[in-house]
Amino acid sequence: MQQAKPSFSFWFTLSLLQFQHQVTGIKVVDGDVNVTMGEDAVLQCKLTDTSDEVTQITWQRKNSAHEDNFLIYESESGAKPLNEFGKRVQFIGDGDKNANIILQNTILSDEGGYVCIFTVFPSGPYSTDIQLTVRVTPVIKVFTEDPPEVGSGESTVATCIAACGKPAATITWKTSLAEQRIENNSFLHENGTTTTQSQLLAIPVKSMHQQEVFCIVEHPTLKHPEIISHKLNIYYSPSVDVRAAEKPPGSLLLQCEADANPPATYSWSKENQSLATSNKMNIERSGQYLLEMTPDINGLYFCESRNPYGTASGTIYLHISSSREQYGVLIAGIILILIALAVVLFFVWRQRGEQTGSVQFRRNRQDTGGTESDSMTQGRDQGREDVDSV
Ligand SMILES: *[C@@H]1O[C@H](CO)[C@@H](O)[C@H](O)[C@H]1NC(C)=O
Ligand SMILES: *[C@@H]1O[C@H](CO)[C@@H](O)[C@H](O)[C@H]1NC(C)=O
Ligand SMILES: *[C@@H]1O[C@H](CO)[C@@H](O)[C@H](O)[C@H]1NC(C)=O
Ligand SMILES: *[C@@H]1O[C@H](CO)[C@@H](O)[C@H](O)[C@H]1NC(C)=O
Repeated sequence: MQQAKPSFSFWFTLSLLQFQHQVTGIKVVDGDVNVTMGEDAVLQCKLTDTSDEVTQITWQRKNSAHEDNFLIYESESGAKPLNEFGKRVQFIGDGDKNANIILQNTILSDEGGYVCIFTVFPSGPYSTDIQLTVRVTPVIKVFTEDPPEVGSGESTVATCIAACGKPAATITWKTSLAEQRIENNSFLHENGTTTTQSQLLAIPVKSMHQQEVFCIVEHPTLKHPEIISHKLNIYYSPSVDVRAAEKPPGSLLLQCEADANPPATYSWSKENQSLATSNKMNIERSGQYLLEMTPDINGLYFCESRNPYGTASGTIYLHISSSREQYGVLIAGIILILIALAVVLFFVWRQRGEQTGSVQFRRNRQDTGGTESDSMTQGRDQGREDVDSV
């Protein structure tokens, strides 16, 4: 009670006394504590098997550089922090036989030994040591850093990292790969955390692309193992498929489709002539080429797809017979209309021509060798020819 800030010599003698008192039946009950960084830690300290009066409770940290005492409790004045660290601590005991505290929002450096001391009258001080362990949840990620290429030998197809965990995390894999190998690495940081890395190795084949693998991370701060799914990324050269489809009205869509990773770019050509187009960029990306259905559409078309791992090409021969028939029908239609018109015109003209003709004949008779009459006759003949030719 008198010693709000006990001197070094006081504590020195205190620790000697402590040994003597441990022999007696009086006990300080505690428990080591594990806390996840960022959470609050409850440090428990209880005095049992005594009815002696508690005059003061002191909390101190072991092995810290200066000022070991961070909190003091006296029945008259209550709990009082003795330094900055003490201000983060909340006294939740009853001040009698219970001296529990809460250390709020724990950080890595809170880890260490804590001492709880009961000053008891008349039997003397009793103390106990509590070990606080601060754990850190690792930061987990799975990735494929450099997607391996089909045909290359055994390669890292996925990497799983549990970074800065405390204690070190364990990493395992769940896959349906036929053959695989695992390589583990870990690195201990100065602050006591450990980065664990596990690499999944296999011989890359095309069928592995987009296949799902699972990285399983176990850590004391995790209630359940963390299972992270990852889709493998494998690079391979294109293989190509070429199709054509009608696209009404009056167009035809050529589709070049490559299975490739990374995605292929495309170019279309016809009989070794690159095709003139306004949207080259779009064709490069989509492989789609839109053609007008004109009679000169027919021919051999050639699609080339490429990615950094190779090229593949496909051809398609267009012979638009159905389109020709359509043109044929159209032309036939136009000819029929022309015939009908010509026939009508012919009869109208002949009717009128007979009248004028008779006049002309008469005129011809009067006016022999008249050029007018000749030209009219020619015109009539021409009319006949037209009809005949149809
Ligand atoms: C704290 O963790 C250690 C191992 O890391 C374990 O042996 C001990 O039982 C844990 N204590 C509590 C109170 O959970
Ligand atoms: C890698 O580590 C895990 C635990 O973290 C272990 O189960 C596995 O056997 C290790 N694999 C190798 C090849 O060392
Ligand atoms: C521990 O150290 C590593 C490496 O310097 C750092 O990345 C990590 O954030 C640190 N962790 C804590 C909890 O301070
Ligand atoms: C296109 O060029 C290749 C060689 O460059 C040649 O073998 C082929 O006969 C040509 N095709 C046509 C339709 O001109």
